Order: sequence, then C-alpha cells, then structure tokens
Amino acid sequence: MRGRYRFTCGLFGFSFLILLMPTISAANEAGKKLALQGGEGVQPCSSCHGAQGGGNAAAGWPRLAGLNADYMVQQLNALANGTRSNPLMAPIASSLSEQQRKDVAEYFANLTPPTTPPGGDVDQKILKRGKVLAQRGDWQQGIPACTSCHGLKGQGVGAAFPSIAGQPAMYLQNQIKAWQSGSRQNDPNGLMASVAKRLSDEDSQAVTAWFASLPAEPSKSDQ
Ligand code: HEC
Ligand code: HEC
Repeated sequence: MRGRYRFTCGLFGFSFLILLMPTISAANEAGKKLALQGGEGVQPCSSCHGAQGGGNAAAGWPRLAGLNADYMVQQLNALANGTRSNPLMAPIASSLSEQQRKDVAEYFANLTPPTTPPGGDVDQKILKRGKVLAQRGDWQQGIPACTSCHGLKGQGVGAAFPSIAGQPAMYLQNQIKAWQSGSRQNDPNGLMASVAKRLSDEDSQAVTAWFASLPAEPSKSDQ
C-alpha cells in the first residue's frame, strides 16, 4: 500500500513539474522580450538600463542585473502609484501590468551583474570617509552603519534591503536626495528616510562613492 502511495505521489509531483516547466520559461521569455524589445507603448528597458542590465553610470541610471526580483516589483509598484516619483521611470512602470512587472523583474534578477564596479574618479580621502560611514556609521550624527541593513558588502538582504554595491554613485545620491525632499516615501517604516535626512551632502557623496567602488553581487530572491 505505502509503496504504491509513494509511487502515485511521486508520479503526481513529477507530472506537476513537467506541467509547470513551460509556464516558467514562458514567463522568462515574456520578461526578456519586454527588457530587450519593449512592449505596447513601453520602451525596451535595455535602452536605459543597458543590454545586460548593468545600468548607466554617467546618466545615473541604476543597475537591475542581479537585484532581488521582489524588491524590483515593489519599486515598480511604488513608481506606478507615486510613492516614488521619477519623470522617466514612472510612466513606464504605470504602463506595465502586474504580470509584466513580475516577468521582467524575474528576468533581470537572473542576469549576472557586471564584475567591474562603476566607481568614478574619487579622492582617496573621500572614499575613506565613505567606508567608515558605511561600516560604522556616525553616532554623533545619529547615522547607523549602512551595512547593518544592506549587508556587509552592500549586497542586499532579501526583498526588503536592496543591494547598493556596484550601483552608480549618482543614482545612489539621487535616492538620498529624493528621501530628503520627500519625493520618495515608499520605504517601510520610514527606515531609509530617517537615515537620509541625517546625511550631509559631503557624507552622502562619500558613502555613495564607496558603495559605487564595490563590485555588485547577485542578491538572490531566496536569501
Ligand atoms: C527612459 C529610460 C528608462 C527606461 C526605458 C526604463 N527605465 Fe527603469 N529607471 C530609469 C531611471 C532614471 C530610474 C531611476 C529612478 C530614480 O532615480 O528614482 C529607473 C529605475 C528603475 C527601477 C528601480 C531600481 C532600484 O534599484 O530601485 C526598476 C526596477 C526599473 N527602473 C525597471 C525598469 C524596467 C523593468 C524597464 C522596462 C520595462 C525600465 N526600467 C525602463 C529609467 C528607465
Ligand atoms: C535601518 C535600516 C537601514 C539602514 C541603516 C540603511 N538603509 Fe538604506 N535602505 C533601507 C531600506 C528598507 C531600503 C528600501 C526602501 C524601499 O523599499 O524603497 C533602503 C534603500 C536604500 C537605497 C535605495 C536603493 C535602490 O536602488 O532603491 C539607497 C541608495 C540606500 N538605502 C542607501 C543607504 C546608505 C548610504 C546607508 C548608510 C548611510 C543606508 N542606506 C542605511 C534600510 C536601511
């Protein structure tokens, strides 16, 4: 009896997997198509975020390759509902359906991020200050270590704390400014807004330069 039960269950599980497989690859195909060719009224993501999703450091556009898929969906939702505003990205996010957001986020999450960090021409003294802020914070200013939430290498932790290593410095600074001015309000419990509001312009420049000098590491959805 038990043997037959196990066999039936095994068979059921196996057929379930076979049934599921085309669904998974169809989702990735749809995500890939959106990313590289765009969709109805939607520009290809690659035209701004790069063919490999590596971002555009000079323009301050973020890397998407290797970011957590659920985090990206949350950001697309925020950009669409206005709790995060950006004139370039908001209209694109709004025109994506819920399914398209999932498909395209899944596609970029599975791409390998570039191994060379965007970096930039930054004074060693500034980088040194950035590293201290990132790893230890500045208690007199009430700034906690960024790595306590974003991971020891800035690689991100799960869907809540994004990877910030290997992102263009200008992009990271723009986000800090957005929290300071209130144009980005989508962070859970205002966690990031309270950090951003304590950073001076010099410290923001230093800490973002340091994270931009680190190589990106994939932040897998299952972490
Ligand atoms: C016209 C240029 C442009 C195109 C095309 C574009 N994006 Fe963006 N995207 C941006 C900019 C600029 C930002 C940063 C916004 C900011 O500074 O807050 C961004 C941010 C994002 C973010 C947030 C990343 C993070 O780490 O928080 C995601 C996710 C994203 N884009 C996904 C996409 C997807 C998916 C597509 C294609 C369907 C796409 N983008 C097409 C310009 C673009
Ligand atoms: C208490 C936890 C915490 C600390 C400490 C913290 N962050 Fe964050 N940070 C977050 C959360 C949560 C988010 C995601 C917000 C969201 O969901 O939109 C975030 C997002 C960000 C983003 C936006 C990334 C993107 O692509 O969307 C940047 C940039 C950032 N943090 C920089 C920093 C820097 C620099 C420091 C240190 C000075 C720091 N953070 C310290 C919690 C934290």
